[in-house]
Amino acid sequence: MTTLIVNGESRSVTASPDTPLLYVLRDELGLNAAKYGCGLGQCGACTVIVDGKAVFSCVTPVMMLEGRSVVTVEGIGSSDDPGPMQRAFIAEQAAQCGYCIPGMMMRAQALLKRDPHASDEAIRAELQPHLCRCGTHMRILRAIRRAAEDMRPKAAEAGTGR
Ligand code: FES
Ligand code: FES
Repeated sequence: MTTLIVNGESRSVTASPDTPLLYVLRDELGLNAAKYGCGLGQCGACTVIVDGKAVFSCVTPVMMLEGRSVVTVEGIGSSDDPGPMQRAFIAEQAAQCGYCIPGMMMRAQALLKRDPHASDEAIRAELQPHLCRCGTHMRILRAIRRAAEDMRPKAAEAGTGR
């Protein structure tokens, strides 16, 4: 049994310790946002946030997560009440098939939490490990810029003239 904090709630899971987090999320906890793409840490579709950092859940054994905090797309808003990252992706129509989008959103969310003023260069570099076979990269970038504007603490903007 492993106990981890998923989207703010303590969850105890029975999967064997070497089970990848991705399978635990999808098969045991019913959280299907994170996607299986390659299973090898090479596409980014399965990305979630662990203790503030973007990780590939397909190559993260659940035994490494005892007591740690995991955030998935389900934890940053819902279809009834989408969070800033989700609103921005909808507004920019960033998804084509949508398969890569949850991973993109989670890596961008982690980046903007630690650097709300991330430059375009920093955003591009951060998203480097993520593949989008539909080629909607430019819309994804626009969505992340829009989310950044929405997520920035307004106080921090005071005096910047923006
Ligand atoms: S499914 Fe995890 S990186 Fe591709
Ligand atoms: S929107 Fe289809 S893979 Fe990115």
